Amino acid sequence: MTTPHHLVCGYCDGVPEEAMGVRRCRCVPAANRRVRYLTADLSAESFRASLSGRDLWRYQALLPAPRKFGSPLSVGGTPLLDLGLLPGDVHLHVKDETRNPSGSLKDRATEVALAVARNQGHDRVIAASTGNAGASLACIAAAQGMRATVVVPASAPRNKLTQIEAHGAELVTVDGSYDDAFDHAVEYAERTGTYCRNTGINPYVREGKKTAAFEIAEQLDWTAPTWVVVPCGDGNIISGIGTGFGQLTELGCLPAAPRLVAAQVASSNSITLTHELAVRQGEMPREPVVVRPRTVADSISVGRPRDHVGALRALRDSDGLAVAVDESEVRPAAQALARRFGLWLEPSAAVGYAALTRLQAAGTIRPGDVVVLLATGSGLKNPRPWEN
Ligand SMILES: Cc1ncc(COP(=O)(O)O)c(C=O)c1O
Repeated sequence: MTTPHHLVCGYCDGVPEEAMGVRRCRCVPAANRRVRYLTADLSAESFRASLSGRDLWRYQALLPAPRKFGSPLSVGGTPLLDLGLLPGDVHLHVKDETRNPSGSLKDRATEVALAVARNQGHDRVIAASTGNAGASLACIAAAQGMRATVVVPASAPRNKLTQIEAHGAELVTVDGSYDDAFDHAVEYAERTGTYCRNTGINPYVREGKKTAAFEIAEQLDWTAPTWVVVPCGDGNIISGIGTGFGQLTELGCLPAAPRLVAAQVASSNSITLTHELAVRQGEMPREPVVVRPRTVADSISVGRPRDHVGALRALRDSDGLAVAVDESEVRPAAQALARRFGLWLEPSAAVGYAALTRLQAAGTIRPGDVVVLLATGSGLKNPRPWEN
């Protein structure tokens, strides 16, 4: 059974008022809302006793829709690979999200958002995407018998576009950036009443992403690693991971949450800059620092993050860090993962390993630390990124 829940403002935690047909708070209208569960009747014991099944619906008690509205694709339940000790005695685990149905972590978000949509009676869905969320939407909508529209920048990697078309979704390419695609999808959804899965607007996508944190904790026998490294563009994945670990510590399933690392690339470093500003100011900026991204890491090439509030909150609450590596560090990281560990990831996902390497060299990640890298997307999605 799902626990009763309602939406609160992502910035101030207040109950948003109705404004222009959408329940958004006046404090930061663009802040994505958060799902708050009324967990008075839930304890660490009853939560653990409720766990059943192998996919993400195992965590039904803390999800916003009944599992009967989920797809039959078995999303989540991915392995946590124990890669042993790195030189310098850091214990490395990789959460292999490439094993999801469309090859990325985005399937967790889509699975939960589309279950909410079906529960609300929708049969048409739309999302803007740098590629992976769109491939995921196309895939899971097909399994759900829903009609999907995906809006992407024309520059999205060919294989991601092929995935979207293979699943029969309507593909709209915009001659512009992901930010342009985002606005286009919102306008279309508002005009036609189509259910919008856009990251940073839809509060339920975070609920799907948080299940990766639930699984990491469970796979480590209800202990927390020292660090979890998360490639970061819009900031919604790291927000989900922070939410997941936060809920587990609140329930008493974990003694403490891990420290989170937002891993970015130099030109697409909005979350890093905005986090630095938050630390200097002592409060979360209402607007993100806007940048002009230009990176091979296409999935995290974002100028104006749509969930900077969620990301900054996750960093604040976990005593986390944001790191932007140089563009030149991405390829060696991708090669090391593929050639040393057998993990072929897309460049955006490999950025986490580059960040780990940097933080280890700087002495921030230290001998004895346990690190989980989130392997967010498969190398098959963008196989020749340095030849485009
Ligand atoms: C493979 C991959 N890694 C990381 C991210 C970053 O997630 P977010 O934009 O929520 O920060 C994305 C988002 O598209 C992605 O596809």
